[in-house]
Amino acid sequence: MTNPFENCRIGNIEVKNRFIRSATHESMAQDGHVSENIINMYKDLSEGGTGLIITGYLSFATSDSHSPSTMRISDDEFIPGLASLTKAAHDLGTKVVAQINHSGSQLFSKPKNRVLAPSDIVDPVNGIKPEPFSKEEIDSFIKEFGKASLRAKKAGFDGVQIHGAHSYLLSKFLSPKYNTRNDEYGGNIDSNTKIIVEIIKEIKKQCGNDFPVWIKLNGSDFEENGITEKDFYRVCEIISKNGIDAIEVSSGVPTGKFGPSRTIKHKAYNLDFAKNIASNLKTDTIVVGGLREIDLIENILKDSEIKGVSLSRALVREPGLIKRWEQGKREPARCVACNGCYNPKGTKCFFTLNDEEKKFQKKVMKLMGFTK
Ligand SMILES: Cc1cc2nc3c(=O)[nH]c(=O)nc-3n(C[C@H](O)[C@H](O)[C@H](O)COP(=O)(O)O)c2cc1C
Repeated sequence: MTNPFENCRIGNIEVKNRFIRSATHESMAQDGHVSENIINMYKDLSEGGTGLIITGYLSFATSDSHSPSTMRISDDEFIPGLASLTKAAHDLGTKVVAQINHSGSQLFSKPKNRVLAPSDIVDPVNGIKPEPFSKEEIDSFIKEFGKASLRAKKAGFDGVQIHGAHSYLLSKFLSPKYNTRNDEYGGNIDSNTKIIVEIIKEIKKQCGNDFPVWIKLNGSDFEENGITEKDFYRVCEIISKNGIDAIEVSSGVPTGKFGPSRTIKHKAYNLDFAKNIASNLKTDTIVVGGLREIDLIENILKDSEIKGVSLSRALVREPGLIKRWEQGKREPARCVACNGCYNPKGTKCFFTLNDEEKKFQKKVMKLMGFTK
């Protein structure tokens, strides 16, 4: 019986338990810098028993458009703030992995730069027709990915996670719908994966072979001509042979049949994708999505080769959830999966907002397609 509350090693990192906070964009950075509110959020999660926190995505690339409330790792000036974040978690025994992302064309506010993507396919989120990356731009993007990871190492992160899910740039490189390139970076799933293999190698080159490199991937995009389970399996097979240390399994894209954060009736909705790779490949597997019951989590860890579970919204509502479960108070998470925590003014549970804030947030939820 795998005890989820015991020490373990996941993706080359020693963790005090098997509970991971999945990347959750905080929307609370100050012009890209770590803020006091973010540090407090990480302290609450650490005190609340979370074994490892994956940061909300960090922006790093010159070819990306940064929103001021997104944490950045694009320059050494951001290292001291990020170091105080890792220290806050480490002091409380919690590990931290930096999720590194390029948004590509999936921008939720007006772009400040040229918008680059694998190909010039219009983005359904905003109607933007991006320009395809040139070979030279891909080369410098890969180098920048390595540099950002080295900054993460210097800031004390225990590893990095490549964001390869949810229709951001690398997810679009994998998708036949968005990658129509006919050079070495497109044309079939193996070529679509090439950029990710090169990024893994560059990170290991700049940070050392032992530095943990994780990735988050979609088991399926659930959209026409998007990534299928077969594609996903092939990507996992390729990166498993090329140094990836852990794969976190998600699914969905904002404009697909399902998004990444589904409603309350969907439980453990990425489990089958995760089980398949966990039992067939050697790489450590983590599953995210609709995990709100401790009995279910214990069964997943008992009945499969999955190494860790990750939660996002349940920990926004209850940062102390893991400690509560460990203390034997085993009621399900209180999160009702309303998605009201997708709040541009700072990620927090909808039920903690005052009436005025709720009114504003209801409009946001409608705009984002969560409510009618
Ligand atoms: C407010 C919010 C922000 C999120 N930000 C990110 C992010 O930065 N990177 C990412 O990979 N996923 C992000 N997600 C998706 C979650 O990590 C997770 O995959 C999804 O919500 C399903 O897990 P859950 O059912 O435990 O919430 C975010 C989710 C929420 C609710």
